[in-house]
Amino acid sequence: MSSPDQRLSSPSALRNRGPISEVLRTVLPESGTVLEIASGSGEHITHFAALLPALSWQPSDPSAEARASILQWSEAEGVANVLPPLDLDAAGETWPISRADAMIAINMVHISPWQATLGLLKGAGRLLPAGGALFLYGPYRRQGQPFAQSNEAFDASLRARNPAWGIRLLEDVAGAAGQSGLVMTATVEMPANNLSVVFRRQ
Ligand SMILES: C[S@@+](CC[C@H](N)C(=O)[O-])C[C@H]1O[C@@H](n2cnc3c(N)ncnc32)[C@H](O)[C@@H]1O
Repeated sequence: MSSPDQRLSSPSALRNRGPISEVLRTVLPESGTVLEIASGSGEHITHFAALLPALSWQPSDPSAEARASILQWSEAEGVANVLPPLDLDAAGETWPISRADAMIAINMVHISPWQATLGLLKGAGRLLPAGGALFLYGPYRRQGQPFAQSNEAFDASLRARNPAWGIRLLEDVAGAAGQSGLVMTATVEMPANNLSVVFRRQ
């Protein structure tokens, strides 16, 4: 008997993975291991792994449901360069991995407590080599810039679901990143009022 289909699907991941991969091509190293934090369904990492086969892709998520989905998506897509997903809570004191050549986290910072972002930045500071990239994607507030109405409504809906969630001020994220030895080197405007943000380990 075949195992039940446990693959999750995220409509937004299917929409944004094309534009995100265009930015990733310019940010990631030519070879090495890319650690993804909060991989969710696994649709992003399997797509990126097929596009950039010289890289080894390490997915992770604290949710067992997500990890089952990631495993099934990578089997279904036949991508040999996606490693089995790790059970990794960014806010955790210890992580089940000690190095990565680059890291990515898509739509995590606003859908998790601020502690998770602090853990993500500390982890990037520990794991990445000098010059290694941490790539973030999602909506952000920015000092002195208007906040899109759609993001205002999204932020209210996030906070109603969980008061610890919410769209962060990019300057707060960059400040915390600095405490972990990371410097913000690029921001790229993305469709639907999202932002790609690149940090590099100093
Ligand atoms: C909105 S989903 C994004 C999933 C995927 N990156 C995407 O864009 O489709 C948020 C993900 O963050 C994960 N997450 C929540 N808290 C986390 C934490 N403390 N550490 C790591 N991942 C976390 C959830 O399990 C979930 O898969």
